[in-house]
Amino acid sequence: MEGEWVLMVTAKAPSNISVIKYWGKRNEALILAVNESISITLDLDHLCATTTVAVSPKFEKDRLWLNGKEMSLSSDRYQNTLREIRSRGDNFEDDEKGIKIMKEDWMRLHFHIASHNNFPTGTGLASSAAGFACLVFALAKLMNVKDDMSQLSTVARLGSGSACRSLHGGFVKWVLGKDEKKGKDSFAIQLEDEKHWEDLVILIAVVSSQQKEISSAKGAPLTVATSPFLHYRAKEVVPKRIVEMERAIQSRDFATFAKLTCADSNQFHATCLDTSPPLFYMNDTSHRIINCVEKLNRHEGVPQGAYTYDAGCNGFLFARDRKAAALLLQRLLYYFPPNPDTDLSSYILGDKSILKDAGLENINDVEKLPAPPEIQDEVPAQRFRGNISYFICTRPGPGPVMVSDQGQALLDPVTGFPK
Ligand code: DP6
Repeated sequence: MEGEWVLMVTAKAPSNISVIKYWGKRNEALILAVNESISITLDLDHLCATTTVAVSPKFEKDRLWLNGKEMSLSSDRYQNTLREIRSRGDNFEDDEKGIKIMKEDWMRLHFHIASHNNFPTGTGLASSAAGFACLVFALAKLMNVKDDMSQLSTVARLGSGSACRSLHGGFVKWVLGKDEKKGKDSFAIQLEDEKHWEDLVILIAVVSSQQKEISSAKGAPLTVATSPFLHYRAKEVVPKRIVEMERAIQSRDFATFAKLTCADSNQFHATCLDTSPPLFYMNDTSHRIINCVEKLNRHEGVPQGAYTYDAGCNGFLFARDRKAAALLLQRLLYYFPPNPDTDLSSYILGDKSILKDAGLENINDVEKLPAPPEIQDEVPAQRFRGNISYFICTRPGPGPVMVSDQGQALLDPVTGFPK
């Protein structure tokens, strides 16, 4: 195949946060989990990956640029993902541009891939989930792949387990599957779409940390190899929790949702502690955030908030509704005021309208916040200034989307190299 043409597609894919945790694989190469998991897809406006993929007969090899920097594609995970998506490509024809690609050509043609995240890297939020979901979705569009989202999720899974859940919006379950040879039935399904539970508010506390965490890819196999508790959890605890969580989500039962979410996060971190050598992902600030939510819930009598932590120290909090989110934010800002000279609008990112609900217009309002009523007997109440870098307020969001505006493409349409 010859020619100077460049064909390209740009897409955005969301990040997701699990509420029943995936940790550990029964098959490392195929990325088949030891237990099922459930997640909520986060709004694209606040946390997403944008990826442009291009194909051209003039490209000499597959190349990848991540956040502007060229990265190697030589890992098994990239190679498996690319091989699998290539095998699903279909015929493509564009008479105007004089492009005709046959199914079998995809095996020989090379890709240029450029990707970036709309959230700062180095915060522990730069999960591989959005990135691999976006790569697979964009390539599927480029190659005219006819698979549905669940079938595509099995390809994203080869890049990173949690990525399979980012192919759907809303509330998503990654099913275990029985095909141990190929993993064809270990895919993500949508339980409910993003409009199902509109009251739910998600608040992410990005915790200041210099600590370099052990990646999930390295940590989880250690847990599988050394923690008896993980295997007990996978067999005896998670299957029941999955059923209960599905029911709680379906009926928007926040009290049960909160109980299961917090318990599952804590149990996942307990398996990390049960690993040899132990894995520590949460820090003192993470634990203080947990206390803050637990105290609020106890004080209110009915759960208003829930928390979950991935393999990192950032807290993902859920509030029952906007009123509960305002209560929670007031408390969090009381305990964790920003460093001096921080602008409130750079301390609360995403959906800033939550500030108004909490009665906070500027940084002076934060300084004047009264001690939460539930701790008034503890004198003096301690505040931990600067321990949280910032918050992101978000909500459940849709799955991947195509970006038609060429201005947002990350590759030049003529050269196929980063702009
Ligand atoms: C703690 O998907 O990052 O976030 O499959 O090895 O790439 P690999 O791991 P990854 O694991 C994420 C684990 C988690 C919990 C979860 O997302 O369910």
